[in-house]
Amino acid sequence: MSQPIASPAVALAPPRHVAIIMDGNGRWAKARGLPRNLGHRQGVDAVREVVRACKRLGIEYLTLYAFSSENWKRPQSEVAGLMDLLRLYIRRELDELARNGVSIRVIGNRSRLAPDIVALIAEAEAKTRDNRTLTLVIALSYGGQDEIVDACRRIAERVAAGALRPEDVDTNVVASHLQTVGIPDPDLVIRTSGEQRLSNFLLWQSAYSELIFVDKLWPDFSAQDLADAVGEFQRRDRRYGGSGA
Ligand code: IPE
Ligand code: IPE
Ligand code: MG
Repeated sequence: MSQPIASPAVALAPPRHVAIIMDGNGRWAKARGLPRNLGHRQGVDAVREVVRACKRLGIEYLTLYAFSSENWKRPQSEVAGLMDLLRLYIRRELDELARNGVSIRVIGNRSRLAPDIVALIAEAEAKTRDNRTLTLVIALSYGGQDEIVDACRRIAERVAAGALRPEDVDTNVVASHLQTVGIPDPDLVIRTSGEQRLSNFLLWQSAYSELIFVDKLWPDFSAQDLADAVGEFQRRDRRYGGSGA
């Protein structure tokens, strides 16, 4: 008699928070002889698909790295194209996102953004504030080091003002001064396009995230690819420094 197929070890719950470094738009366009901005435009379709897939995968928080603090170095035409896509995405999708229970939150340095984008973000956040199905965090003009420096500065100000003692500064105090306050740390960080680095993304928050690197370029990334990554996550053994079961 053949052996029954071994049942897999008890799978982890799905990740509550998935964070994605959406990389490879430029290479996607280049491979087709197209300008980079068309790669970014195609990337928006992947965003739409991935956002819609979260609910059925049980994901409660999705953070998308849309534009890093270093991406300002890119040619002005590319930066302008990316900002236009962001405007278009929020204007076109806001109603549907709001209807579907999505709450929008933007992290990053707003002082470098155009005033109309700052206003659009404020509108999107206000309109969706009470939604609970999915929190969509958009990292825009975001850098993890800047975020930590900013937190240190504000903590130092409180210490200098006598409102906080140095010995009371702990991980909770630091976390509560980050822009992600109130958002659980990402369980899973996915990066597309085969690059294997964080590029200044959620440096503090990803301390114990599972990392999955996918070769596909971002415009080719689908809901199925997200489901596959979630499946791989559920087979991982998260130990947090312990010695395991
Ligand atoms: C990711 O795609 C999108 C942003 C960084 C805004 P890239 O534009 O980095 O694409 P590659 O890495 O050049 O292929
Ligand atoms: C990281 O991708 C930023 C985003 C995906 C928004 P980059 O393409 O900018 O990162 P590097 O330069 O390859 O590290
Ligand atoms: Mg890139």
